[in-house]
Amino acid sequence: MNSFNPMDPEFLADPYPTYRRLRTEDPVHHSPLDFWVLTRYEDVVAVLRDPRFIKEPLVAFVAARFGAAVPPGVGVSIITRAEAAGSMDLIEELAYPLPVNVICEMLGVPVEDHERFKGWSLDIARGLDSILLPPESEVPRRSGAARHAMTDYFRGLVAERRASPRGDLLSALIAAEEAGDKLSEDELLATCILLLIAGHETTVNLIGNGTLALLRHPGELRRLRETPGLIASAVEELLRYDGPVQRTARIPSTDVTIGGRTIGKGEMVMPFIGAADRDPAQFADPDRLDLARTDNRHIAFGWGIHFCLGAPLARVEGQIAIDTLVRRFPKLELVTNEPEYRQSLTLRGLKTLPVRF
Ligand code: HEM
Repeated sequence: MNSFNPMDPEFLADPYPTYRRLRTEDPVHHSPLDFWVLTRYEDVVAVLRDPRFIKEPLVAFVAARFGAAVPPGVGVSIITRAEAAGSMDLIEELAYPLPVNVICEMLGVPVEDHERFKGWSLDIARGLDSILLPPESEVPRRSGAARHAMTDYFRGLVAERRASPRGDLLSALIAAEEAGDKLSEDELLATCILLLIAGHETTVNLIGNGTLALLRHPGELRRLRETPGLIASAVEELLRYDGPVQRTARIPSTDVTIGGRTIGKGEMVMPFIGAADRDPAQFADPDRLDLARTDNRHIAFGWGIHFCLGAPLARVEGQIAIDTLVRRFPKLELVTNEPEYRQSLTLRGLKTLPVRF
């Protein structure tokens, strides 16, 4: 079995044939890059629900490899603007600003500071693939610096809200912290960063990947336009078919045998959500996009105790954005059939998605 190169442009454009090959030939694959790759639905779910596999030591794992450099650590108005132009970059003009504005508003980050988060968030997201990079890479250091800068920023904002609370989520989190031993200041800051990054780097790709999948499946797009109420099930299928989060990671606290192979205590394991969600043992005809798919128990938002906190928000955002887009623009079409992907093994998303309507 040839191992795969996660940064190969062909893999980035379409990882699913590689997942299929791995799932069939070597479902518990040990990569020469020194981590385990799981591609069967059954194994991925088993790891995510198994308390022996722990998420927390990941930061320490990366820090050990890179030295001490990594510290612990609405749509319609937007669309109206683009309408007059007749074309837009869907990522830049809709898919990105929508969830960013929502999470910033919810948390209570002032509008004038939104731009500062873009760079920090991008640097932190790039750091998610630190494990794949050579030790001399700048990425983990930049990611660590961005995390520091964001922590400082939130420390300032927390002080402001502590002095004069408002009706935002940040003020509510501060109240929880002040109520006693529920949340420490470090946890409060880490939570703000997690929510901000998740708000910046995930739903954008649900809207981007989802719209691309629909434009590549005109029959399904027509079905969505013609079937009232299909949007909720459609978004679930788009999450399964080409989800924003392709993989996660865990470290076993003891030796564990999966699929006949023993994964050693402390080794890095990557359960591939994107591969599990195309497993024919779980999904009938998994490579087919079927917006009315039944029994769609996809794991795009994970499984078990780390199940995505933002899933209800992301679902609503995805439903509003995609539904508005396809209804408002009956002639929506791609400008290029080969849009470029961001370089990431964790987050699957497009750099740009030019469309006209
Ligand atoms: C379509 C969009 C999204 C997808 C596909 C997604 C996916 C995921 C996945 C797969 C996990 C589990 C990771 C693991 O098990 O290691 C997760 C966790 C999490 N997500 Fe999301 N997410 C999305 C949007 C959001 C949004 C908008 C927020 C918050 C504003 C958010 C906040 C979180 C948080 C806080 C966790 C960590 C939960 C924990 O560790 O206990 N997510 N997400």
